[in-house]
Amino acid sequence: MRPTVAPFPTARFRRLRRTAAMRDLAQEHRLSVADLIWPLFVRDGDDMEEPIPSMPGVPRRSIDRVVRAAVEAAELGIPAICLFPYTDAAVKTQDCAEAWNPENLTNRAVRAIKAEVPELAVMTDIALDPYNLHGHDGFVVDGEILNDETVEALVRMALAQAEAGADILGPSDMMDGRIGALRAALEGAGHRHVAILSYAAKYASAFYGPFRDAVGASGALKGDKLTYQMHPGNSDEAIRLVERDLAEGADMVMVKPGMPYLDICRRVKESFGVPTYAYQVSGEYAMIRGAADRGWIDGEKAMLESLLAFRRAGCDGVLTYFAPEVARLLRGRC
Ligand code: PBG
Repeated sequence: MRPTVAPFPTARFRRLRRTAAMRDLAQEHRLSVADLIWPLFVRDGDDMEEPIPSMPGVPRRSIDRVVRAAVEAAELGIPAICLFPYTDAAVKTQDCAEAWNPENLTNRAVRAIKAEVPELAVMTDIALDPYNLHGHDGFVVDGEILNDETVEALVRMALAQAEAGADILGPSDMMDGRIGALRAALEGAGHRHVAILSYAAKYASAFYGPFRDAVGASGALKGDKLTYQMHPGNSDEAIRLVERDLAEGADMVMVKPGMPYLDICRRVKESFGVPTYAYQVSGEYAMIRGAADRGWIDGEKAMLESLLAFRRAGCDGVLTYFAPEVARLLRGRC
């Protein structure tokens, strides 16, 4: 039974807010560096970082620089990074074959990171959008995004990533049936310990704009992703998708974007009690960074508050481009 609140002045909520020590004791939720997954953009080249105009402070990095960032992540105590490739237009094809090339950017980066910092968890992205000319997550035939054929390609892609040494696979494509297909293929190939973090409740969102710039998919994308990603008006559907993906073998689930969908994070955590993550996506990053750079908000405080909100909503962790900055800020606090 919930205790009733005593009437004023017996109950004075301000007693527990009077000093920092009292507030610390009464604080319900905390953000820790162990809750962070740091997304990184990989490109070709040597010893170079290229700025992304719509994501100030987030560059595309050559593989050697990604390795350096991975070392930094490990030193900061960030448990995982997540890789997204900026694929050269010359290797984008109708059949997306670069997606399962063992020597593609992602797979080379995974091997390089694992050679240098094997203890860091490396997550990879599974979807076809960086590998074709139309920017969709699956094969497109006559304007239709094919489901089952795409799933077969995703399986090939997943096996190449597992082979390269990825710890966590992140299918972000929203095709039906892909989790079961991936899990079966991983078991079949002896990759028993590779985890799947399913982008289970992924909405068709305007907040992905800067990411599409980052991976070079913006110019290419024709139309929208509403035939495979979720409509922003839906909530029960998210619960059904999470239930389905768990039944098919997902180890962890994600809600994406983050801040506009905190209600979904809460429902998912309460319904299933499974490891639940949110993706604070590129547009959320750009809004906070953009306003902070203009002096319109306090960037550090806004960043910390936005991330703590995910913990309060029930998330076990957050993918955030702020990860290294937050990790530095959290150092010395517990
Ligand atoms: C595509 C993918 C997207 C993001 C991650 N994987 C964009 C999309 O679905 O169009 C977005 C991440 C972000 O905005 O930070 N597979």
